[in-house]
Amino acid sequence: MVDVSDFALRAARTRLGPRADLVQWVTTDARELRLPRKVDLWHDRAVFHFLIAAADQEAYLASLSHALRPGGHVVLATFGPQGPENCSGLPVERYDSAKLARRLGADFDLVRSLEKLHTTPSGTAQQFTYCVFKRRA
Ligand SMILES: C[S@@+](CC[C@H](N)C(=O)[O-])C[C@H]1O[C@@H](n2cnc3c(N)ncnc32)[C@H](O)[C@@H]1O
Repeated sequence: MVDVSDFALRAARTRLGPRADLVQWVTTDARELRLPRKVDLWHDRAVFHFLIAAADQEAYLASLSHALRPGGHVVLATFGPQGPENCSGLPVERYDSAKLARRLGADFDLVRSLEKLHTTPSGTAQQFTYCVFKRRA
C-alpha cells in the first residue's frame, strides 16, 4: 500500500490487524513511485483527484505505467462531476468516466464504470466515479 502520509498508512495498518503483515507498506509520493517489480492491479480511491496540475497528473501516470504490467488492470475512484470541489481544504479535479479515459490515454481501455454515493464518517454524501481500465498488452 502506498501513501505519502505515514499517519495514513499507520491507520490502515491498525485497521488490518494481523493481516497487515501480508501487505508491503510504502511511504512515498505516488508521483515518484518506482516499484521494483510489475504489479497486476493498481487501485486508487481518492488520491489521483488531488492532482490538479497537468505535470502532476503526468508524473502520477508515469508511475502507473512503470508499475503496471501490460494487460494489468487499474481501478480508479475519483470525485464525480457532482462531487465536492474540495477535500480536506484542497481543490480536486472531478471526473466522469469519459474524462478519466481521456486522461489515461490510448494505452488503457475502459472496462467498466459506475457512479456511487459515498457517505463520509460525518454523514456527508460524496459522488464518486469508479472506473476499471485494462492496460493494453
Ligand atoms: C481521501 S484520502 C483516501 C485514502 C484511501 N485511499 C481511502 O480510499 O480511504 C487521500 C489520501 O491520499 C494521500 N495522498 C495525497 N496525495 C498523494 C500523493 N501525491 N501520493 C501518495 N498519496 C497521496 C493522502 O495522504 C491521503 O491519505
